[in-house]
Amino acid sequence: MTKSEICLTGVERTFDKNEIIVSKTDTKGRIIYANEVFLRMAGYSEAEILNQPHSIIRHPDMPRCVFKLLWDTIASGKEIFAYVKNRARNGDHYWVLAHVTPTFDKSGSIISYHSSRRSPRREAVEKAEGLYRQLLAIEQANPDRKAGMEASFQAVLATLQNAGVPYDEFVFAL
Ligand SMILES: Cc1cc2nc3c(=O)[nH]c(=O)nc-3n(C[C@H](O)[C@H](O)[C@H](O)COP(=O)(O)O)c2cc1C
Repeated sequence: MTKSEICLTGVERTFDKNEIIVSKTDTKGRIIYANEVFLRMAGYSEAEILNQPHSIIRHPDMPRCVFKLLWDTIASGKEIFAYVKNRARNGDHYWVLAHVTPTFDKSGSIISYHSSRRSPRREAVEKAEGLYRQLLAIEQANPDRKAGMEASFQAVLATLQNAGVPYDEFVFAL
């Protein structure tokens, strides 16, 4: 599906602060587990979502560089916290604060990834939205997709350097 064909309703979905959206993926990012809250929020049945790439719920407002940071971090064996705007099947959207971690086998190799998501504070969503809008604009201003992503990635690194904090602390300060 091309970007212009992606249906968006502009309607935001929210979930209870006591609920957790959970999914697990294989090392390529294909969904191998999704809990009930995930299925309800995303609007898919379990059969429809299993083995699909996690980008099935990618929202076009999300800058690529955030996913690069996510993948670079978890593939290096570390955890990451990130605000993510997701797209439900019908085009609604929902914001999450995701905690994504690698799972290791006995020899220390990564065998899967796990993401637990909480409902974020409104003020944090507004700040993440502003930052992501800037990053997306940098990406879209560049005709070359990869170069645009590199430029926005550098902008994130510069933001972190200015704030003088690592990414996780920056995320929690939003
Ligand atoms: C455990 C795990 C959970 C993920 N959760 C999401 C998610 O909720 N939404 C999302 O858009 N991408 C999520 N991703 C990232 C996707 O794999 C993918 O990088 C992203 O959607 C960008 O897709 P694209 O590279 O095809 O543009 C997750 C990845 C992993 C490993």
